[in-house]
Amino acid sequence: MTETDPSNSKDTFGDMSPDEFRRHGHRIVDWIADYLANPERFPVLAQVEPGFLKEALPDHAPEIGEPFERLLADFDRLIVPGITHWNQPGFLAYFATSGSAPGILGEMLSAALNVNAMMWRTSPSATELEEVTLTWLRKLIGLSGDFSGVIYDTASISTLCAIAAARENVKDVAVRERGLAGTPDHPNNIFLRMYASEQSHSSVERAGITLGIGQAGVRKIETDSEFRMDPKALVHAIYEDRAAGWTPFCVVATTGTTSTTSVDPVPAIAEICESEGLWLHVDAAYGGPAAILPEKRWILNGCDRADSLVINPHKWMFVPVDLSILYCRRMDVLRNAFSILPEYLRSKTSGEVQNFMDYGPQLGRRLRAIKLWFVMRYFGAEGLASRIREHIRLASEFASWVDQSPDFELTAPAPLSTVCFRANPASSRDGLNGEELENHLDRLNEQLMEQVNRTGRIFVSHTKLNGRFTIRLAIGNIRTAEPHLREAWDLFNEALEQIRS
Ligand SMILES: Cc1ncc(COP(=O)(O)O)c(C=O)c1O
Repeated sequence: MTETDPSNSKDTFGDMSPDEFRRHGHRIVDWIADYLANPERFPVLAQVEPGFLKEALPDHAPEIGEPFERLLADFDRLIVPGITHWNQPGFLAYFATSGSAPGILGEMLSAALNVNAMMWRTSPSATELEEVTLTWLRKLIGLSGDFSGVIYDTASISTLCAIAAARENVKDVAVRERGLAGTPDHPNNIFLRMYASEQSHSSVERAGITLGIGQAGVRKIETDSEFRMDPKALVHAIYEDRAAGWTPFCVVATTGTTSTTSVDPVPAIAEICESEGLWLHVDAAYGGPAAILPEKRWILNGCDRADSLVINPHKWMFVPVDLSILYCRRMDVLRNAFSILPEYLRSKTSGEVQNFMDYGPQLGRRLRAIKLWFVMRYFGAEGLASRIREHIRLASEFASWVDQSPDFELTAPAPLSTVCFRANPASSRDGLNGEELENHLDRLNEQLMEQVNRTGRIFVSHTKLNGRFTIRLAIGNIRTAEPHLREAWDLFNEALEQIRS
């Protein structure tokens, strides 16, 4: 165990020496700079088979430490080929997200400091920087000063916490004290129900499952022809449910749905929530950053009336994964859903300062605010706006190519940076109609998407709209520019040509 490699300066105790750290650190920063300069040298979608890495790595950890050079060589040789490159400008799948250079540098410092931002005193700067950056962003997106924020890892957790607060807010249930079912001498006998559109993200249903609301307790509301929640259907559902013995307690509206980026009519939904006494949570995980643009501010119309709202800087604000923010107008309720103060966490400052451990299920928290702070300061409001605006312009450009093509069609409006479309060439309609034609188009588009993704030049994903296969092209990567979209469009046309021939 005491044997060491002579090329390594480590000994039995302690860490890598500062000199060695500096040497490898410089190499890694050089690697990152080269990578960001030309991520296109890698195929965007990893071209490996399942199990490739597990077969290549030993099945046990090394007994004796290895020289760091060997680790870096294996990183290049084994790990990088199995990476799907989210930082590649041809990454146009899901919601294309990217880490920007200032965000990556922020991550490095955060890892170096390695603080746990659970309480103010466990790192005062971490807590106060979180408060400051969240106020900055709140102002940038035009949300009222009634909201305060807290950083979590993902929107799924932000929404889970928001719905936990909504559940805490239900009168006479006391879930915190007695659990959802209640106790034998005090059964709750209450059946909570929440609402979200049929286009809402799966994280809403997952939160329902986790919080004991159950899938039956999450009612999906119909959408209109543009995939937006129908407020009349929402009212109808609430009344029908009350009559059937349910207790409605929460509505989740989405501004920027996952499949099509449709925007639910939040002002009308807020009206309903206010008159029915329901918690309104807005999922602006993807769409929220668009509100930095004055011309897109409408996307958060009505959101000042919400009780909570989630926005993900790690989706469309160039902050490396992970960083999601829950803004809440009722922090006291959120706190009540989670806070608990064992003796070993008491401090003299309790009560005077913010202790973010009080607002979620976790105790330990990374210092995430620093990368958001770096990104906001380095690009400035103007720099962020111009990049997001360019993505919206590129999406509308791509949508216009689809629209003008005799072989392709749009399958949903594209109000933000995501385009839903499919091939529907006249030649494939010959002799087919109705269900037969639709099944044929589903197969054709799936084949088209797979063929294009196999090139390694771009990566797009899909969804189903009205039960039919639809290709989704999402722009959100800081390095994506017009030539990448022209290439994507050429690839789709070439692949369609090949399939037809
Ligand atoms: C609208 C919306 N909400 C929530 C989420 C979940 O995000 P996260 O991965 O941060 O949990 C997504 C993911 O794409 C999304 O599109």
